[in-house]
Amino acid sequence: MTRNVRIVLYGVGVIGSMIARFLLEKKGVEIVGAIDVANDKVGKDLGEVIGAGKRLGITVSDDTGAVLDKTKPDIAVHTTTSFMEKVYPQLAEIIKHGVNIVSTCEELSYPYSSSPKLAQALDKLAKKHDVTVLGTGINPGFLMDTLAIALTAPCQKIDRIKITRVMNAATRRVPFQKKIGAGLSIEEFKEKMRTKVISGHVGLEQSIAMIASALAWKLDAIRIDAAEPVVAEKLVRSDAISVPTGMVAGLKQRAYGTRNNHEVISLKFQAYIGAEEEYDAVTIEGVPPIYEKISPCVHGDVGTIAMVCNAIPKVLNADAGLVTMKDLPVPSAVVEDMREYVKF
Ligand SMILES: NC(=O)c1ccc[n+]([C@@H]2O[C@H](COP(=O)([O-])OP(=O)(O)OC[C@H]3O[C@@H](n4cnc5c(N)ncnc54)[C@H](OP(=O)(O)O)[C@@H]3O)[C@@H](O)[C@H]2O)c1
Repeated sequence: MTRNVRIVLYGVGVIGSMIARFLLEKKGVEIVGAIDVANDKVGKDLGEVIGAGKRLGITVSDDTGAVLDKTKPDIAVHTTTSFMEKVYPQLAEIIKHGVNIVSTCEELSYPYSSSPKLAQALDKLAKKHDVTVLGTGINPGFLMDTLAIALTAPCQKIDRIKITRVMNAATRRVPFQKKIGAGLSIEEFKEKMRTKVISGHVGLEQSIAMIASALAWKLDAIRIDAAEPVVAEKLVRSDAISVPTGMVAGLKQRAYGTRNNHEVISLKFQAYIGAEEEYDAVTIEGVPPIYEKISPCVHGDVGTIAMVCNAIPKVLNADAGLVTMKDLPVPSAVVEDMREYVKF
């Protein structure tokens, strides 16, 4: 590819802004437009919105059609919300403009079992307009699914896969800390979970479904336990939130995939301010047994920015349709000029 890869940002919140700042430093890519609906962003220069320290000459707009028509990007980097129902119309509009998509929407990472109708509709629409759509990120997207799938490659037999992620949320972005209930009382946490004001972690179901699909395991069921609060045993704090003893520091959650009434995929997710040991671990009970541990755990935001940007050439090179991480070539980093990795 001789010209730069042209990118439109769709969503310039915390993650979109981090991605933008990272892309500004990369060779072979060009941010050509930015879309967002937030009142405090629309009409402003992108450089100001993302904290780049300089003007970029790109005005954040809430008019998706006008931005895509004018800028004709190769790909939209989509970072708005976590749920398929909400992102479907956003993605459909981008697709209809013939633009590829890489998105951080958690439910998009493997929507074929949790939102089958929307997934099939997106796949059909993407094929019609000859574009590729991918949902990815660090989790879901890598640590609790793609990485575990790759680790099954040297196995002759697998009885069970267990994946654990434990992280100290103090170093994560504020929307994430809020999403896990940090700073709330136990009653507030329960009420906000009940009314879905906070969602807990989104993506465990999709990670299990992606692993099962890669192994051609037909699961009887995927069960996601309700998230439970992790209560601070002493004062813990992040830059933004202070959590006194007895208040909620974050959450823990478990999810299971069962086959022939046996638990064959188990995920354990813990994110709270003050976690002392942070790690990512995958245990495969099989032949041979596999145990892999990353310690400390991969930083969620840094990893997400990288996963999204590193996926761009693979999305551009892929056949049209709604793809998932397990369908693309082995994930790898884009450390050189991005054009080196694009095949057209
Ligand atoms: N897969 C992963 O590993 C992973 C990792 C990190 C984040 N994520 C997900 O990525 C998403 C973005 O995270 P974030 O922290 O950046 O959230 P955020 O700070 O809330 O940013 C989202 C931005 O998108 C805007 N937006 C919402 N709906 C829109 C629409 N229809 N059109 C255009 N813009 C719209 C929001 O505006 P308003 O504020 O006005 O709504 C906001 O400015 C979240 O769903 C998060 O859970 C996934």
